[in-house]
Amino acid sequence: MPVQIIVGAQWGDEGKGKIVDHLSEKVDIVARYQGGANAGHTVVLPPRRADREKEFVLHLIPSGIFHSHVVCVIGNGVVLDPKALMDEINQLQTAGIDIKGRLLISHHAHLIMPYHKALDSIREQGNQKIGTTGRGIGPAYIDKYLRAGIRVVDLLDRDILCRKLKQNIEEKNELLRKVYNVRELDIDEIINEYQEFDKKIDEYITDTSEYLNNALRKKKFILAEGAQGALLDVDHGTYPYVTSSSPTSGGACTGLGIPPTSVRSIIGVAKAYSTRVGNGPFPTELDNDAGERLRTIGGEFGATTGRPRRCGWLDLVSLAYSVRVNGIQKIAVTKLDVLDDFDEIRVCTGYTLNGRKLSSFPTDVQTLEKIHPIYKNFRGWKTSTSGARRFKDLPGNARRYIEAIGKSLRTQIWMVSVGARRDQTIFVPGNRRGS
Ligand code: GDP
Ligand code: IMO
Ligand code: MG
Repeated sequence: MPVQIIVGAQWGDEGKGKIVDHLSEKVDIVARYQGGANAGHTVVLPPRRADREKEFVLHLIPSGIFHSHVVCVIGNGVVLDPKALMDEINQLQTAGIDIKGRLLISHHAHLIMPYHKALDSIREQGNQKIGTTGRGIGPAYIDKYLRAGIRVVDLLDRDILCRKLKQNIEEKNELLRKVYNVRELDIDEIINEYQEFDKKIDEYITDTSEYLNNALRKKKFILAEGAQGALLDVDHGTYPYVTSSSPTSGGACTGLGIPPTSVRSIIGVAKAYSTRVGNGPFPTELDNDAGERLRTIGGEFGATTGRPRRCGWLDLVSLAYSVRVNGIQKIAVTKLDVLDDFDEIRVCTGYTLNGRKLSSFPTDVQTLEKIHPIYKNFRGWKTSTSGARRFKDLPGNARRYIEAIGKSLRTQIWMVSVGARRDQTIFVPGNRRGS
């Protein structure tokens, strides 16, 4: 049963978009299973004829869309912002990417409404600032689990949509007015806007769980694309500084409506160092020149919000935890080239708490804020790796760095990425390509 799950193994932005795009060459379907337009997955396309290479940032549409044979699915676990989706579809069509018949949207995905975004931004003005992307994600998942959400299927019936919208907007307006003392939203304006969306996205809506299960029966190859990362998982991340969905591999089955028995492999994507956007503990964060260099060389600014990403050394303690909660069998290490100019590279190999070594990653924030990272130093390679295409092309110190990561995690390093382009990818020998 050929489902391969791609998960972010850190705090998001590991380069999932690049890896999914690369692997899409050999798959039939790419399916997003959770999150919403909080994600920003970057894909860099090679130049076509005289044109320069082109960068796309995808928020909702799976990163397989640039391969014309691939069908892209937005699963039931995703919270869909129709406006963001329309913008993305327009951007692709303007660039000459034909999505006709290649995009399917689950009829059970929940819709992000304007009041979700309003509530997201209001909550962020309170005491417990998470540093969200402001895309309405938390409030939309609240409504889903409150059983008050509006789903894509509701767009298909005008009466149901109007009834549900009226009820929701009246409730939310009361909340906005009474609790937050802010402007109410206009019911008729929202109803009209969403009915317009309905006309535009109608052709993509289907029962995607049924579609995917039929595809499995026909032995089609499915890539499940996670958004965010394991350490932002609502259950397994650094709660409350997390997102509101399940980016970990377990989320792929519920978020797509496919059985766990269909999963063949789980690939974790991890940067060769660490980054985090938004608030919350970050044990290896560098508030110094090295952190600034990582941010500048790595172009570490949010693909969705443009915020500067917090940067730090690779953290093998949190990565080992991520391998455990996801069941990661193979790792793709990205952005190795960003370390090319460093004299010395540090890696966190353990934590101490009150002078005692911890045996595993503590996810509770209170403990994480008190721990001290233990570092191992690696000598830099001081050579460009961006042109390497085989593992043996990498300088010795870079190979030793990668091998040490695999050894410490007792997990195969399957792929190494040395640049944002598709071709800047190395499959590590001994590991069968695409398997
Ligand atoms: P995602 O959210 O996990 O898909 O990652 P993002 O797209 O938010 O951030 C990753 C950034 O790194 C993007 O700008 C990519 O184009 C870029 N990128 C991906 N892989 C590499 C790599 O190996 N080297 C370099 N230098 N950049 C990379
Ligand atoms: P991709 O898929 C990095 C972070 C936000 C914030 C927290 C909660 O590109 O890796 P939310 O808007 O989800 O309620 O914000 O999660 N966050 C991400 N950080 N990459 C992402 O997605 C993220 N999506 C959300 O910065 O700290
Ligand atoms: Mg991103």
